[in-house]
Amino acid sequence: MIARDRARAEAAQAWIAQEVPHASTELVTADLSLLAETRDAGERIASRHPRIGVLVNNAGIFDAKKVVTAEGHERVLATNLLAPFVLTSALLPALRAGAPSRIVNIGSSTSDRAEIDPDHLVLGQDWTMVRAYGQSKLALMMTTFALAKRLEGSGVAANVVHPGLVATGLVRTGGIIGLVWRCMAPFALSEEQGADTALYAALAPEMAAVSGLYLKNRRAAPPNRRALDPVLVERVWAATERLAAGPGRAMRA
Ligand SMILES: NC(=O)c1ccc[n+]([C@@H]2O[C@H](COP(=O)([O-])OP(=O)(O)OC[C@H]3O[C@@H](n4cnc5c(N)ncnc54)[C@H](OP(=O)(O)O)[C@@H]3O)[C@@H](O)[C@H]2O)c1
Repeated sequence: MIARDRARAEAAQAWIAQEVPHASTELVTADLSLLAETRDAGERIASRHPRIGVLVNNAGIFDAKKVVTAEGHERVLATNLLAPFVLTSALLPALRAGAPSRIVNIGSSTSDRAEIDPDHLVLGQDWTMVRAYGQSKLALMMTTFALAKRLEGSGVAANVVHPGLVATGLVRTGGIIGLVWRCMAPFALSEEQGADTALYAALAPEMAAVSGLYLKNRRAAPPNRRALDPVLVERVWAATERLAAGPGRAMRA
């Protein structure tokens, strides 16, 4: 488990121990909006676990206001796109060594109608909460597809999952968006139901060799047409790699 708050993460570990008595968990603390901490967390995990079977990149945020991290990255882009990219990169040798293995990235159906310009992943004056979130999830999907292609034949599968509309603390804003979120909550999935498709992608035997898919409700779903354009996908990969890696830190997929 990677979490930013030790006390809450330890409470989650205690809950897991109670629910699944034979489970063993290990905690690494890191703020996943910071790429140096994310990279360091990945390297620490890889040094302790040279073979990894499953990586689920679940952490994600929906910011009501534009926030820039101490590293100078816009926080939604950093958390939802750059962190999974950096973490996956750090863990890829262990995932390859653990093959057959799986990467499950948690996307969102907000990507279905999002727009993206690989030369303008860092939104400026045009930043809005909906645009930043949708674009980050579309970019996550496109980099997942690009990674799946790079990993063909390696035994490492990479898929992106929309969990459904789930009653969680994702939207912490007021205003019209917060109001709509709170009104939808009674019709939303529970957290357990929301985990179902991600766990299906991570664990189902029939998904072991399935890669490069967008899953909703345990089924392949049609992605945003932009994610089916191989040239655009590669440009988004390159732009993400530049933002996430900096010089000399390209992902060796
Ligand atoms: N809820 C939905 O309807 C919905 C729909 C589509 C997609 N999703 C996606 O599902 C995933 C899970 O979201 P959720 O709905 O379960 O929301 P959530 O309850 O807010 O959970 C988000 C998780 O990400 C962690 N996180 C956020 N920023 C972090 C950081 N900088 N460092 C470390 N951990 C961080 C949070 O940790 P803390 O506990 O420390 O805050 C929390 O555990 C996200 O990727 C989200 O975009 C959700």
